[in-house]
Amino acid sequence: MIYYYLIGFLLLVNGQSITTLSLSQFYQCTCENLKTPQDCFRDFCNWDIENEECQNKKCEEFTKGDCQAVPEPFNCVWNYTIGKCEDFKACSDFSFPASYADRCYELIKCQADPDSIDFISMNIKCMDRSNDSAKSIVNCDKIPYESCKWLVTDEDLLCVKNLQTKTCETRKINNCADYNTKQTCDKSTCYWDGSCKSLDCSKLSEENCQYYLSFDQKNVTLCTWKENQCSNLDIEKLKQNQCLSYTIYSYAWNPDSEKCEICKNQMFLLLSYGIILLFLGII
Ligand SMILES: *[C@@H]1O[C@H](CO)[C@@H](O)[C@H](O)[C@H]1NC(C)=O
Ligand SMILES: *[C@@H]1O[C@H](CO)[C@@H](O)[C@H](O)[C@H]1NC(C)=O
Ligand SMILES: *[C@@H]1O[C@H](CO)[C@@H](O)[C@H](O)[C@H]1NC(C)=O
Repeated sequence: MIYYYLIGFLLLVNGQSITTLSLSQFYQCTCENLKTPQDCFRDFCNWDIENEECQNKKCEEFTKGDCQAVPEPFNCVWNYTIGKCEDFKACSDFSFPASYADRCYELIKCQADPDSIDFISMNIKCMDRSNDSAKSIVNCDKIPYESCKWLVTDEDLLCVKNLQTKTCETRKINNCADYNTKQTCDKSTCYWDGSCKSLDCSKLSEENCQYYLSFDQKNVTLCTWKENQCSNLDIEKLKQNQCLSYTIYSYAWNPDSEKCEICKNQMFLLLSYGIILLFLGII
């Protein structure tokens, strides 16, 4: 506890704030979170004039690009077979050629199942996410060398290429410095500068200045471009018209508090769960 106060204190002294979300809070706004017609984003939502409510468009109304871009709670997935956007049902409905295993991660809380590779059709099935990492996997053992790209096991181990033996190795990684070659340094969360170092906002180009993931792909840190450099995003400073887009659909404007507020608050979920339990206990 003291540790957290200390961090808060240091941030205050520095005059900087850093916005890090867990993956389950990132990109979670839906149209229902958008309380004003100005915020009700035309591409993904419809403003219901009568009820003064912002509503999600239906999956079938989306093009491929929008279907794959809408936040998870829209529950939409692209059906590659018929070329249509559909309501998502289950991860296990999907299988892809093994070289397209990445597509399992484009679905909703799904991952590739290396134990399902069919060596005749060379297809791989998708399965439910086994952990709250954007790249979770059950184990590294059956991952082909070419696909061995920093997947994360439930034990928090990473699948990393062994350049000598050309195998996919299971390794304990504590930070970017544990990747000791330029080739194994994971460019989505680290950068190479003589050694493998952790990314922070200031290392991102203007084009990539949006967010970066932690090395275990469980946390997301938001960044913003200002005064010719990429820096940490300060939610407190966002205006109504910046809230949704600057936070990549993770925060929405609350016209009552006039603040930019997180769409999916874990604390709130925990609290309501606690209250329900308490309530059940009383009955
Ligand atoms: C894609 O659409 C076809 C035709 O409606 C259907 O049979 C198939 O199950 C769909 N694929 C998935 C993965 O839902
Ligand atoms: C993730 O893995 C850990 C073990 O490292 C386990 O305790 C936890 O329950 C898993 N989380 C989910 C969401 O399955
Ligand atoms: C991710 O965030 C949690 C707190 O939300 C923290 O305990 C954990 O250390 C973070 N992980 C990384 C790799 O930064």
